Amino acid sequence: MSQSALTITDNRTGMTYTVPIENGTIRATDLRQIKTGPEDFGLMTYDPAFMNTASCRSAITYIDGDKGILRYRGYPIEVLAEHCTFLEVAYLLLFGELPAAPELKNWVHDITHHTMLHETTKKFMEGFRYDAHPMAMFVSTVAALSSVYPEARQVHDPHIRLHQIQRLIGKVPSIAAMSYRHNVGFPYVYPDNDLSYAENFMNMLWKMVEPKYVAHPAIARALDVLFILHADHEQNCGTNAMRSVSSAQTDPYLSLASAASALAGPLHGGANEEVLKMLDEIGSKANVPAYIKKVKEGHIKLMGFGHRIYKNYDPRAKIIKWTAEQVFQVTGRNPKLDIALELERIALEDEYFIKRKLYPNVDFYSGIMYQAMGFRPEMFTVLFAIPRTAGWLAQWQELITDPEQKIARPRQIYTGHDVRQFVPIEKRTPVAISRE
Ligand code: CMC
Repeated sequence: MSQSALTITDNRTGMTYTVPIENGTIRATDLRQIKTGPEDFGLMTYDPAFMNTASCRSAITYIDGDKGILRYRGYPIEVLAEHCTFLEVAYLLLFGELPAAPELKNWVHDITHHTMLHETTKKFMEGFRYDAHPMAMFVSTVAALSSVYPEARQVHDPHIRLHQIQRLIGKVPSIAAMSYRHNVGFPYVYPDNDLSYAENFMNMLWKMVEPKYVAHPAIARALDVLFILHADHEQNCGTNAMRSVSSAQTDPYLSLASAASALAGPLHGGANEEVLKMLDEIGSKANVPAYIKKVKEGHIKLMGFGHRIYKNYDPRAKIIKWTAEQVFQVTGRNPKLDIALELERIALEDEYFIKRKLYPNVDFYSGIMYQAMGFRPEMFTVLFAIPRTAGWLAQWQELITDPEQKIARPRQIYTGHDVRQFVPIEKRTPVAISRE
């Protein structure tokens, strides 16, 4: 009998089945042969929230959540954060190898020459309300690019795909910066192609009347490191949205808008904004124990803590903590850091957090640093979406070129009524409806 197989006995019928095990996984469709009779659809698995289901094979990002390991294409995140630029890492994610110097030069050139937005896209952004949330503007404008580049629908053409990848990585900082300038009522700033990716983003955010924007090198580097840390994180909620929507052969602008929509949620990328709100609410170090008590009583969650995959310290949070110190040397220390450090200290010693393996995640310290850099909390998730665009596109490429992939279409366990007799409206009696 094969060692790499699972033998299942169905107690309903007494029948025994053998299904192969590959990569520690059985194929859910292999269970369909397990039936109680010819009318039976066959056995399914039930896995709400994909707690234990692999939806794809991927060679992009590796995470060992118990050991706190994160690697892109085999390279540890710590090494990439120390030695690379974000665009180098984006190339690695997309093409599988670190670029040699001439390849990087061409890649940077190609991205840099796609930073401009069509003037109609600029006008489109002008139409948002003055107080629109930047993430709502980001999502909608990325989707609107689908109307500017209709050829993007040809998702099976590799040249067209590459063109959209360059456009999206080039344009997302421009959209993000415009969403910020729109909020504060400043005129939009056009990209400056002499600047690096992070510097140009800072230019589009903060240039006022000076002829040429000069970024502080330590802040520009810190932003680039933040971009590297956020570039990909395998099959999280946003990436799953990207893959799921793209599986319908939807164009990458619309698919990426869905991924960014998922990211906007407070349990996902929106958590960095929520962490700042939480620190404001706590107010001072002295109030931390009372706040932790409320968390333990189940009234609230400690934002920026916990992760579906990491059951150890999130390696990105460690690098962010270190990078924040570099930023504070330039900007001065954000007083919220003391509250955050106290929260972490108490939480990491507390039985509730230890038992559940809850550690700070990527969002715990990033907001404090972003705020010190001059970003408003509403911009934090947009700052996450810029680099994640590279990861989403790498995952999209992998999906489109994977012969095993088909339109994503989960099954359900139907819990509703069996067929019912229609009642005409004049014969219906009011029924209390639960509004929960
Ligand atoms: N504060 C307090 N308790 C928590 C927290 C938290 N932040 N996170 C999880 N728990 C508890 C949870 O109540 C549950 O306890 P019990 O077993 O008594 O019911 C246990 O820990 C397991 O949690 P879960 O909700 O089953 O875990 P999950 O894998 O479904 O959720 C999570 C993961 C990230 C959604 C969750 O930890 C959370 O809501 N954290 C706060 C929001 C946050 O920081 N999100 C950013 C995630 S990292 C970046 C990203 O994905 O974009």
